[in-house]
Formats: sequence, structure tokens, C-alpha cells
Amino acid sequence: MKKIRKAIIPAAGLGTRFLPETKAVPKEMLPVVDTPTIQLIVEEAKASGITDILIIIGRNKRNIEDHFDSNPELEANLARKHKDKMLKAVQETNGMNIYFIRQNHPDGLGDAVSTAKSFVGDEPFVIMLGDDIAKADEPLTKQLINCYEATGESTLAVMRVPHEDTAKYGVIAPTKEIKPGLYDVDSFVEKPDPKDAPSDLAIIGRYLLTPNIFDILADTKPGKGGEIQLTDAIDTLNKTHKVYAHELVGSRYDTGNKFGWLKTNIEYGLEHPEVKADLREYIKQLGQKLTEEDQK
Ligand code: G1P
Repeated sequence: MKKIRKAIIPAAGLGTRFLPETKAVPKEMLPVVDTPTIQLIVEEAKASGITDILIIIGRNKRNIEDHFDSNPELEANLARKHKDKMLKAVQETNGMNIYFIRQNHPDGLGDAVSTAKSFVGDEPFVIMLGDDIAKADEPLTKQLINCYEATGESTLAVMRVPHEDTAKYGVIAPTKEIKPGLYDVDSFVEKPDPKDAPSDLAIIGRYLLTPNIFDILADTKPGKGGEIQLTDAIDTLNKTHKVYAHELVGSRYDTGNKFGWLKTNIEYGLEHPEVKADLREYIKQLGQKLTEEDQK
């Protein structure tokens, strides 16, 4: 069985749910306390044994490239001043091989993934979406790799969502739970209307796929929203090669919309050594104030 070494991170989206912030700043560079979300994703990849990453970017995304470049001047300055913690923070993703490609004609997630064909070659690989982050004892990507090592088949990550939210996600139609949290799947449906949703198990942004997905993507017609949908290609793949769904063990945060981003920052802030005590105190006081206001 081939070792999973490669990941791709599609980060070419326009970030329209976050305007005006995303006019010039890629949504993947929005901070979670002090770290860009895309760095958290690269750190998850590193902690899962991934060594090579292709980031798919578009226009206006150049500062993602800058972020993963080394900054010798800054590093020398921090070293000279013995600011070891800060130096460690800027070197966190050193040692990873990070490549970039531009998606010239953005036409949906499936189209973005297609641009990674020659990077991936004939190895199974991981797709990590740039605005989904998962907090878990075992990194979510590693959870998928463990499933792959047990079954030898493609697996994607799912979690339960409120039924009315199914229209925001790819949703699976599970046939049976083969072992706790691992599902055999009949079909994969992109953003179904809640009345047609086959379950409440939604695809979250981690996929471990075999490379035959690329031939399928090349033949996939535009689907929901007139775009080439990765979910549709996975549904086709599942007809000839199994694609399992693994239910996330941990919590998932969507940093790609305003409320999701605020919640993520509060929850990560409550665990951040520099701010957690102050933030906790502030939230308590704010909670009291809001309760008093509501009682008036
Ligand atoms: C994409 C996928 C969808 C998936 C979601 C997870 O949608 O198309 O299947 O459930 O990511 O975040 P997007 O959020 O880019 O609209």
C-alpha cells in the first residue's frame, strides 16, 4: 500500500462571504487568533505525515505564497534578540515542500482539484479545504489515513449537521455503518434541498482519494451552481471503486463565513496561552451584561 505523502489545498475561491475583507486579502489568510487558517491546515498535514503540498491559488492570493516563504531578515532579527517563541512560530511549517499552481479559469472545486493531476501522479492523496479546520486529538487527515490503511480505499470526512443545513454541504446516503463512524455509502449529493437530503451526514473539507478521480473529473459535467463539483465526481468514483465516509472524531470550524470565523476565534482564543485568561473573564462579564439587558 502506498504511503500518503501528498495533499492539495484548493484556495482559489473569491471569498465573497467575507467581503469587503477579502477584496485584497485571501480568506485563507484570515487569522485564528494569530495564525492564518491555511497555516493551521498545513500544520494538520504535517502532523499527519504529509510532506508535499500543492496550494491552488488564483489572482489576489500572492500573500499566501509569501506566507510560506522563509523570511531570513525577520528570522535573523528574532534569533539575535533571542525571541525563541516567535522564531518557532514563524518556522512552524519549515521542512514541508509547498508548491503553488494557479487555477486560470475558476470553475468550481472539481475544476480546481483537476489542476493537481500531474502533482499527484499515481499516488492516493488528500484534499484539504482552506476554510475548514478541525480540532481533534488525532488530526482529521490522520484519521482518514488510518481508514485508508485499514481498507485501501478512498475515504472522506463527514459530520452530523442540523437537517436544515444540508443545503450548505455535500451529503452522503449511507447504506450501513461498517464499524463505529465508518460508513458504506450509496451516493454523494452536492447541496441537496433539506427535503431531499438523504441523511444529516455532511461532507467536511477533508478527502482521501485514489488518483483515478482525475479521469472522472475530466468527464464530469457542471452540476450544482453550474460548476464542476467534486462531490459529483466522487459519486461516480464510488460506482466502480469504494468511497467510504468517516465521521470526524473532534470538532470542526468553518472559518469561511463571518459567524463561523468569530466562533472559531473565541474558541481557539479560550485555549491560547497568551489571551485565554483575559478572554474568559471578558466573556463572563459580557454574558452577565447581556443577561441583564435581556431581563430589562
Ligand atoms: C464545499 C463542497 C461541499 C462540502 C463543503 C465543506 O462546498 O462542495 O460538498 O460539504 O465544501 O465545507 P463550499 O463550502 O465550498 O460551498
